[in-house]
Amino acid sequence: PVRIGVLTSGGDAQGMNAAVRAVARSALKLGAVPYAIMDGWQGAVDGGDAIRELTWSSVSSILNKGGTVIGTARCAAFRERHGLLDACQHLVEKGIDRLVVIGGDGSLAGTNEFKEEWPSLLAELVEAGRITPAQAESHAFLGVAGLVGSIDNDLVGSDMTIGTDSAMDRILTAIDQLSSTAASHQRTFVVEVMGRHCGYLPLMTAVAGGCDYVFIPEKPPAAGWEDELADKLRAGRAAGRRESIVLVAEGAVDSQGQPITTDMVCDALEERMGERPHVTILGHVQRGGVPTAYDRWQPTVQGYCAVRQVLDQQAGDESVIVGVRHNRVALMPLMEAVRNTRAVKTYSDALDFDKAVQARGESFGQ
Ligand code: F6P
Repeated sequence: PVRIGVLTSGGDAQGMNAAVRAVARSALKLGAVPYAIMDGWQGAVDGGDAIRELTWSSVSSILNKGGTVIGTARCAAFRERHGLLDACQHLVEKGIDRLVVIGGDGSLAGTNEFKEEWPSLLAELVEAGRITPAQAESHAFLGVAGLVGSIDNDLVGSDMTIGTDSAMDRILTAIDQLSSTAASHQRTFVVEVMGRHCGYLPLMTAVAGGCDYVFIPEKPPAAGWEDELADKLRAGRAAGRRESIVLVAEGAVDSQGQPITTDMVCDALEERMGERPHVTILGHVQRGGVPTAYDRWQPTVQGYCAVRQVLDQQAGDESVIVGVRHNRVALMPLMEAVRNTRAVKTYSDALDFDKAVQARGESFGQ
């Protein structure tokens, strides 16, 4: 039977376990044998017990758990030729030539490079006597499907990535809790929200949480934002609002591309309103805790589709991402999606925010 490896790579995200479980159980249902590759690509580089066969029951009771039970890591060796060779050898030794990789755009791009190198890695391993020609021949082709696990919702082409809905739930809970104490004291809270290059989390939670102001990387405020912000908050107070909540994306910048930090926002408000706001940095709380219903059923469906994909792939087929578009599972060429995502980051870095927003908008249909 075909052997399918599953791994989680890059930052963890709620819902990764649902995907792992779906991959394992779908593989078993479809007559394949699933293997967990522990701690991302590190498990493939290490081999041995780090590549473990999964059974139906070994993925029991993980659906409701946060994080990833098969571990994740950023693997430096996987960027070197010797690491790629080790990974290839260990997979071939276990008879694995189909992979479902759950990770961010960096992990998925790395996976595709590995797939492209696969034939030359096999040849080099045979040459070095590390695998037999027969082994190389029976695993001549590597099938790859990617699922995007990232709380940031930062893949162009897919409406939602795994973990985003749960992270928004964590952020909204915090906003609601801060709002009640803020209202009691008539205070302002400045809250830092994750999203290194992508403002989806702060933007959507600002809308859902009824916040007063939000700073995101894709739409830097015009010069003089300090006065505009203070005027807005004053107007809210004058209208009877007892609390003010300002969200700052961790990657927020001004129109010159300089970072806007929670401290800078507090300084600006203290100067203009005579009182220093309180700061809350949500940090990795956003990446923890149980997955929401969406982050359980959607990765389950995607995991199943990913298995179908790798089982159907033939030599010469491109790697695919199993994403979501218009509330349906959608397949997209892996490298095209990664390239488009990188273009958005490049536009943002080059301060071409209109292009970045336009490209990003295409990803969540706005
Ligand atoms: O998962 C994405 C993300 O949450 C970013 O928003 C954040 O900058 C980053 O991960 C931090 O991750 P780590 O602490 O694992 O480097």
